[in-house]
Amino acid sequence: MPRKISFLNYKGGVGKTSLIVNTAACLARLGKRVLLLDFDTQSNASIWLMRLERWNKLNADGTGAIYSIFEPGRVQVKDLVIRDVLENKDGEKLLPGLDLVPTTFNLVDLEGEYRSDAKRPAYVLFQEQLAAIEHGYDFILFDCPPNILRASQCGVFCSNEIYVPANPDALSLIGFTLLIDKLHKFHALSASFRRSTMGPAAQVQGVIMNAIKAGSDIEVPKMRMQLRLNQFKSARRVAATARIFDAQIRDAMIVRRAVTLGLPVNLVAHDAGANDNDTVVGDYRKLATELIHHADTF
Ligand SMILES: Nc1ncnc2c1ncn2[C@@H]1O[C@H](COP(=O)(O)OP(=O)(O)OP(=O)(O)O)[C@@H](O)[C@H]1O
Ligand SMILES: [Mg+2]
Repeated sequence: MPRKISFLNYKGGVGKTSLIVNTAACLARLGKRVLLLDFDTQSNASIWLMRLERWNKLNADGTGAIYSIFEPGRVQVKDLVIRDVLENKDGEKLLPGLDLVPTTFNLVDLEGEYRSDAKRPAYVLFQEQLAAIEHGYDFILFDCPPNILRASQCGVFCSNEIYVPANPDALSLIGFTLLIDKLHKFHALSASFRRSTMGPAAQVQGVIMNAIKAGSDIEVPKMRMQLRLNQFKSARRVAATARIFDAQIRDAMIVRRAVTLGLPVNLVAHDAGANDNDTVVGDYRKLATELIHHADTF
């Protein structure tokens, strides 16, 4: 069974998408089979990995993206997988092993127009379809918006692990606290729909510090985060194995530039032939490796 993971924080802009895209790319580079599902209407991960021109066609078409599975009789998740999504302008594959189920702006309708069936919520419908293809992967990653509304619920319901990206500031800590509250409410709401084959409901397994500026001392915000994590552990509201990851991601211009280039940072730096041990590329690789080994503590 693949590891199914959401990166979540109720604070927006902390780096969920950049962490998930770059971690997914590192995992694929390490030989893992990775499926990334985009559940954020903003479509940042989809635009990043497909590049704007290719994504624009999908957005204009209105089909071929995740919302289509909620329109009866249209398509299933298995029909939406873009295999080895990263391509250069000539259509050559750049990173085998990284697949994407994209979203477009119509996913916003899931929160509004979509008529939810109380007996079969959207997240159940999604879970059943994902189950049909998940055996083909080592990791399934869900990029979610900063909430647990209907789109995120699909990712959270299917996940067994949650990681919380955080910046070294008070707002990330507040976002984490709110997340724990909302997560437990959602688990209570969805408990009757869980099947034993799905594994345990997702708990927070780790906090990942992101966008750390050179020379800044993050010991105090990290200590505050650790205290909050300890409180949640005592109250059994996060996993007993939850911890702040040793790997942390520095603030680096290349992360912002990579989005414009339509590449994860490990491919940007690879093209430049950079020695990446002490760069942000190395940070993401350490994170991916730590994520792999974290499963040994479960
Ligand atoms: N390590 C980093 N160094 C520099 N810039 C970063 C880093 N991580 C993220 N950013 C930038 O910060 C901004 C927010 O990042 P990102 O989109 O990944 O956050 P998010 O949590 O997914 O946001 P949202 O809540 O809107 O989905 C982006 O412009 C991104 O390029
Ligand atoms: Mg995002």
